[in-house]
Amino acid sequence: MAEAESMLLIAIDFGTSFTGYCFQFVKSKQIRQPKWGLEHGYNTPKTPTCILFDAEGKFLKFGYDAIMNYTRQIRKNEAKKLYLFDNFKMELYGKELHRDLEITAKNGGKMKAMKVFSESLKYMKEHALEMIGKHTSDMTFFASDATWVLTVPAIWSAAAKQFMREAAIEAGLVTQSEPERLIVALEPEAASVWCKQLPYDHFINEILKDAEKIEQAPGTQYMVVDCGGGTIDITVHEVVEHGRLKELHKASGNNMGGQTVDKNFKSFLREIFSNEIFDKFEENHPHELQKLMFEFLNCKCYDGNTLIPCPCSLQKLAEKEKDIEAYFKGSSDADWESESILLYGEKMRSLHDESLKAIENQINEILKKQHLNITYLFLVGGFALSPHVQKFVKEKFGLKCKVLCPVDAQLAVLNGAVTFGMMPNVVESRISVFTYGISEGQLFDAFKHKGKSKYVNKDGVEFCSGCFHCLVKKDESVSFSETKTYSFSPVERDQKDMQFSFYCTESKTPEFVDEQGMKMVGSFSVPMPNILKGGYRTVKLEVRFGSTEMKATATDADSGETTSVKLDFMCS
Ligand SMILES: Nc1ncnc2c1ncn2[C@@H]1O[C@H](COP(=O)(O)OP(=O)(O)OP(=O)(O)O)[C@@H](O)[C@H]1O
Ligand SMILES: *[C@@H]1O[C@H](CO)[C@@H](O)[C@H](O)[C@H]1NC(C)=O
Ligand SMILES: *[C@@H]1O[C@H](CO)[C@@H](O)[C@H](O)[C@H]1NC(C)=O
Ligand SMILES: [Mg+2]
Repeated sequence: MAEAESMLLIAIDFGTSFTGYCFQFVKSKQIRQPKWGLEHGYNTPKTPTCILFDAEGKFLKFGYDAIMNYTRQIRKNEAKKLYLFDNFKMELYGKELHRDLEITAKNGGKMKAMKVFSESLKYMKEHALEMIGKHTSDMTFFASDATWVLTVPAIWSAAAKQFMREAAIEAGLVTQSEPERLIVALEPEAASVWCKQLPYDHFINEILKDAEKIEQAPGTQYMVVDCGGGTIDITVHEVVEHGRLKELHKASGNNMGGQTVDKNFKSFLREIFSNEIFDKFEENHPHELQKLMFEFLNCKCYDGNTLIPCPCSLQKLAEKEKDIEAYFKGSSDADWESESILLYGEKMRSLHDESLKAIENQINEILKKQHLNITYLFLVGGFALSPHVQKFVKEKFGLKCKVLCPVDAQLAVLNGAVTFGMMPNVVESRISVFTYGISEGQLFDAFKHKGKSKYVNKDGVEFCSGCFHCLVKKDESVSFSETKTYSFSPVERDQKDMQFSFYCTESKTPEFVDEQGMKMVGSFSVPMPNILKGGYRTVKLEVRFGSTEMKATATDADSGETTSVKLDFMCS
């Protein structure tokens, strides 16, 4: 299979709620993905992000299988020993990350996050390779036959993105020695790449008039709002020549995705049935709760009153206290009807309020920027299929831009990721989220460097060390197809190496590397053995600002000695 290396692309969308993959042979136009949950009565393009380990920490199941197996074990009272993790993707959001981070399972046990993530990816990998084998008359495929695309939320920290890359290596998608076979793509970028090439008739309730894909109209500016289970992720792009994209506003978002509606629904059930009853139900019947939440998912697809079948176990628990109908007496939000909870449309809508407000604020944050001229707003992600979300966004923003939701909104990230894998340079420039720079010694300036310690070199020249030399400023547009080059001279005539320490910060005007919020993300030194030219020597520093991985290389002009480093955003 030597040639297959660049012929097969496999993309994994590791979602907060659902995870899936799809694949494409480069020669073929068709993108394929499996259907999940058929044997359990479901049929979804992704499977729940849920993983089960045995008491010894050995991987057992993933997705629907994990939930089902866990539930069966509960009946046999074995479940307490098992490690079940769900919703764990959000564990990487908004915290200091290190490789030994532990996360907590349902049974209270702890496990390394790296293991939980890498075992999940390994499962996806094996499922995909087997599936692809079946599609190609039982040929055998290995992970090394494919280029892998793994998507991550744009609003994640650089450390979290790096964590996923390392988990993918751990899972055996690629090896350390060929990192280029793994493309870590940003979720809303993948979605954007998908949206820009959609035919005009591919949207819910809308047909674009000019039968043109927007990628054929350079100058068009559009926004992609990825409404997932966990996060709302937003990007703004402008189409430039050859259908490539330019980022106009840095990725932004929040963690108020579709799960907030589920969370509010559970709180509502607690109000109705009491915490006591619901706690018992949650603890002893997780499978029924899962089923209930799936029923609720169906109900979320409609605008209006809905009947949600009440799980037997919940009903039984409730009826131990009083007549089931009594729980709904006096409630204007819900009623009991034909063994079901009749949830009024008004209430259903209000369960969405929190999330809708967060979506509105996030979009407004961008639209208030004067220089933008956004024509289209694409709504993608599973939560975008919600009629409440669609109606709300159209009401609020329909006059400012055309709101479009692709029919396969939940697959936008996944399908886009494969397309992204075909042309990883499709986004030619991005807005930098941080300021990046290195530590340098500057000629001492009594005013600027007041209070800082002085360093006097052998020629008696005074320097101030630890000054911040900016490479890229926050909010600056950076081209990603090219490498930025800088040059530096040594402080001492007879200096035999030059040390580079890289820092990042959210500040736009940092001056010193010991300022608050400054983080060292890498360092190395390059040898400069020929000292003949003294202070008139130069070291060339080249930096590639990738979206998910950054690399710096320094070359001593005289000797040609070179060293490089990948910037490391995780705490060790
Ligand atoms: N038809 C629908 N109507 C309303 N909500 C839906 C529908 N389909 C899916 N959802 C909701 O969308 C969310 C899942 O969407 P998606 O698969 O895009 O999320 P994810 O990729 O797992 O999460 P994230 O992108 O935040 O990591 C869930 O909260 C689910 O309840
Ligand atoms: C759960 O999965 C394990 C490992 O695959 C299997 O041995 C066991 O029979 C399953 N249990 C149930 C009840 O499905
Ligand atoms: C805004 O974008 C539209 C569509 O791309 C374009 O026709 C129009 O000229 C733009 N307006 C301004 C002020 O740039
Ligand atoms: Mg998603």
